[in-house]
Amino acid sequence: MSDYHIKTLEEYFKVYRSSVDNPEQFWGNLAEEHFVWRKKWNKVLSWDFSKPEIKWFEGAKLNITENCIDRHLATRGDKTAILFEPNDPNEAAQHITYKQLHERVNQFANVLKDQGIKKGDRVCIYLPMIPELAISVLACARIGAIHSVVFAGFSATALSTRINDSDCKMVITSDGSYRGAKTIDLKCIVDESLEKCNCVETVLVVKRINSEIQMKEGRDKWLQPLLENASTDCIPEIMDAEDPLFILYTSGSTGQPKGMVHTTAGYMVYTAYSFKNAFQYTENDVYWCTADIGWITGHSYIVYGPLANGATTVMFEGVPSYPDWGRFWNIVEKHKVTQFYTAPTAIRALAKEGLELVEKYDLSSLKVLGSVGEPINEEAWHWYNDNIGKKKCPIIDSWWQTETGGIMISPIPYVTPTKPTYATLPFPGIQPTLMDENGNEIKGNQADGRLCIKFPWPSIARTIWNNHQRYKETYFTAYKNMYFTGDGALRDEVGYYRITGRVDDVIIVSGHNLGTAPIEDAVNEHPAVAESAIVGFPHDVKGNALYGFVILKDTGESRNQDNLRKEINQIITEHIGPIAKLDKIQFTSGLPKTRSGKIMRRILRKIASKDTSNLGDTSTLLNPEVVQDIMDNAH
Ligand code: WTA
Repeated sequence: MSDYHIKTLEEYFKVYRSSVDNPEQFWGNLAEEHFVWRKKWNKVLSWDFSKPEIKWFEGAKLNITENCIDRHLATRGDKTAILFEPNDPNEAAQHITYKQLHERVNQFANVLKDQGIKKGDRVCIYLPMIPELAISVLACARIGAIHSVVFAGFSATALSTRINDSDCKMVITSDGSYRGAKTIDLKCIVDESLEKCNCVETVLVVKRINSEIQMKEGRDKWLQPLLENASTDCIPEIMDAEDPLFILYTSGSTGQPKGMVHTTAGYMVYTAYSFKNAFQYTENDVYWCTADIGWITGHSYIVYGPLANGATTVMFEGVPSYPDWGRFWNIVEKHKVTQFYTAPTAIRALAKEGLELVEKYDLSSLKVLGSVGEPINEEAWHWYNDNIGKKKCPIIDSWWQTETGGIMISPIPYVTPTKPTYATLPFPGIQPTLMDENGNEIKGNQADGRLCIKFPWPSIARTIWNNHQRYKETYFTAYKNMYFTGDGALRDEVGYYRITGRVDDVIIVSGHNLGTAPIEDAVNEHPAVAESAIVGFPHDVKGNALYGFVILKDTGESRNQDNLRKEINQIITEHIGPIAKLDKIQFTSGLPKTRSGKIMRRILRKIASKDTSNLGDTSTLLNPEVVQDIMDNAH
């Protein structure tokens, strides 16, 4: 038997060692014993980080939905696969069994085929957290279409950029969505975005909020009647191991979002294996990840990882504050949730609300707590541990990325001793290292450097859609023969890792990755703006918030600054979405620049963070006088 389920620390070290000493044997055995293949691979791994080219299980044939659904039917047909908890607590939860999921995915897949979608076509999914989101993802995978889920909080402009970049033939959306007490007209946003897209032939619309919407003749179709006429049988498309499974966009420090491409077999093997171990999942558990499927966490740990293990996975449509801040704990009690996986920003927001709403509910079903998306600060860690886990549920502070596909560094609950704020040890198969600024590997413990990974793992993204050069430059050129994560990290005396944050111009706000450049581009669209620079500063709930330094054009007129601030944030909302709005906007006459014209963001970051005792070396500044001026008018 392979080492699929790690139960002790001793086992972990043994398994880890074998995964590094004999990676091909390690992953080959795991893949063979725990998944269904139509044809076995010819070679477990071939790779070259200089190209970069990475292939896992080459030559193998499979369909991921057979692994996530069909193979469970004999033994788990009546078990709940997806447990849907609606926004409104008075609306009944839905228990979708594996058998029902099989039927619904097949019907949906047949609708996609009827609408002309074929293997390799890109389908954009812009849906709220309703069952059709997971089902449409799986339906694409069933027929080999490449899904590109776009988080339904993104604006029309952000949506059209993503649709055009991957040339999507279809968009799947809903009339609207519920978010707490609000409704959002998703279909209107899609209509607006499609004014800028020529590639989309069909829009399938799920009815969710029963709002009046426009249906464009020939293009827009209600999903429900199509489903009713579709067969519940759909023979899965047989895919090559390295066929793309999905594209998911993530922000880069510059330019357009990056369409990370994940392929079939390696992604499946790694997400399934990491899910099992990171959550110590056992058969009757009820697992809940609060992320949206619009992010990688939802792809890997709401849909694919849990379903590949035959798990029950909760999908929650709403928000933590509706109808009150006790909602999460209400859901834990109601469905007897055993593993709960959320983000530090949610933990901090919940902690602010006091304990009354926590103590009202019975949380004794919980066994494992998880955190993901940004560093978890010590205070939040203890609050989570003391009040939610009652000091008996290990917290897995799991570090990973859209690009890594699955959890990379994380404690294994009940196996790895935890340490607040530390993601601790790498998962089997993951070989992290720290690099110094001169490109040298830092050996030994008690180190501080840039986090890189030395060896491929099965779920690494294979490329950026339509831009392999950017993939190479972003991840494989900073350090020779290494994957560079963009994060800084510490390694303590026993080899535990603590992720300290981004070292590039990506800022994580409430767990969402935002690149500064696209936000600056949006701000600069305002007719009164000459130039802008955006930096992050610490925020007690969001982790980081955005601070914009803005130079106005000299038009001779005086403008109301508060109105300008509102207008600037409105433009950001239209271009990217409300998540990218600036918390502070300071109008300034200049920005600190080097002689070569580069904005010195380091200085702006310090000013925004109110950490101005030591601004570091400012001798290369072209205009040092502006620094004092900015400081005097900050915050
Ligand atoms: C950050 C989310 C510290 C990190 C799965 C990474 C974390 C980026 C952690 C990826 C953690 C994620 N501790 N930082 N446990 N988890 N991050 O692509 O900066 O949305 O590079 O993937 O989030 O964010 P992404």
